[in-house]
Amino acid sequence: QLVLDTLDKGAVIQDTRSIVLPDANGPATSQEDQLLIQGALNSLLSREMIVYTTNENFAQALTAEGTQILEQGSHEARVWAALPLKGQAKGLTVKEIKEKVGDESAKIGQGRAFKNGWIGKEGDTLVKLVSDIVDSTKTELDEISKTGTLRAGEKALAELRKRKLITQKKLLWFSVEKGVKFSVSIKKPETDLTVEMLASGSWKTSEFKKYNFEAEGAPTNGGAFHPLLKVREEFRNIFLEMGFAEMPTSQYVDSGFWNFDALFVPQQHPARDLQDTFYISDPPAALPPPADYYSVVEKVHTTGGYGSVGYRAPWQPAESNKLLLRTHTTARSAALLRRLATRKGGFRPAKLFSIDRVFRNEAVDATHLAEFHQVEGVVADRNLTLADLIGFMRTFFTKMGITDLRFKPAYNPYTEPSMEIFAFHPQLKRWVEIGNSGMFRPEMLEPMGLPPDVRVHGWGLSLERPTMIRYGIANIRTLVGHKVSIEGVEKAAAVRF
Ligand code: PHE
Repeated sequence: QLVLDTLDKGAVIQDTRSIVLPDANGPATSQEDQLLIQGALNSLLSREMIVYTTNENFAQALTAEGTQILEQGSHEARVWAALPLKGQAKGLTVKEIKEKVGDESAKIGQGRAFKNGWIGKEGDTLVKLVSDIVDSTKTELDEISKTGTLRAGEKALAELRKRKLITQKKLLWFSVEKGVKFSVSIKKPETDLTVEMLASGSWKTSEFKKYNFEAEGAPTNGGAFHPLLKVREEFRNIFLEMGFAEMPTSQYVDSGFWNFDALFVPQQHPARDLQDTFYISDPPAALPPPADYYSVVEKVHTTGGYGSVGYRAPWQPAESNKLLLRTHTTARSAALLRRLATRKGGFRPAKLFSIDRVFRNEAVDATHLAEFHQVEGVVADRNLTLADLIGFMRTFFTKMGITDLRFKPAYNPYTEPSMEIFAFHPQLKRWVEIGNSGMFRPEMLEPMGLPPDVRVHGWGLSLERPTMIRYGIANIRTLVGHKVSIEGVEKAAAVRF
């Protein structure tokens, strides 16, 4: 506003150093003042209210040492001042001078004071030779600090520059003229074209703010791993550390044969009910399993074999051919075990794992979903025992930080013996069920063609339960589904068991 008012009165501002800023004692001669004015000029320039040219000249400024000399006198003057006048008292030794004026001043000042004829020797001490001096260094610096230059000229300035008492500084100042849109008041430009402006026609004369295409956009959020994926990665690392290989489990749809029959789950088992399992109606049936294997499985179910009497219950091929959303990843473990049994070079021991999605037709509540993830490990080798299974699980869960384990006899159609796994929860201060396990039955393994001394044991747990405990999540629906907190997902730290 000050620039605009000044221009209004005089048409031009020849030299912005003549401007008197509000609350200032005199004209804006300092460089800080000029830079402040330049800021205002740039803002007026962008509105085309003024034009200006930049001028520069050079000024001398005192260095820190120069300023010190201006305040305390030159080194030579300080040395001279420290000494007694010749004949009046005993002089000072070099050591005593150093103590009085400091090492630096003593070193530089002595030589100059000698050269100027200010001091002289008396024995091994120094004394003043004159009672008055003119400290020309100080007077020169004084002149420079007031006027920015020396009347004595460039030679004297160069000498002070060599002594590092002054430096040359570039000073900017400006000449200002009215621009094409000059006006005494600054109109705030419009940032939006409004309905009112269109209706009244005021848009025709309004000033609009220019787009700033250089402005940076608001930062966008990057992707983040879901807590389930982070915990899955931890489980995966534990299995890999223990020498397990990952099974392919990406097919969610399986047949009744692989999900149940191959696992010696009777065709009348309640788990196969519509209330428990999601069946697929289209396509209506699965491709048939290998015929020879299928007939052995049917035989072991209906009439038995391998020392078993079987279920001796009716068998319906339609049950085997049904397509369903797999209810456990053990369906894929069975397919992989069958592949182990029929591989060309004969059976080889194997440690396999999978972590993937399974589906159960269950009522959804705070801790249950109709789909969840299973973590499953399977070990196949000759002559394995129940102790091997327990040992494996102890190692596995210890790596998760769970050391207090208990095993409780349980029932699975495909394992015997079967054990539920309990862990002591230090916060809840009680034993909680964390998984299911067992030795696969001969009725499951031998029809596959595995040698009779090969034992296979396995265990399974959910991925959701440990994730909820790890992240302190009470309701599963805040972890999975449409109520999930995106912010929580983004902020969730990585887990380390
Ligand atoms: N399939 C079992 C379950 O769904 C887990 C399990 C896997 C049990 C392997 C024994 C052996 O709980």
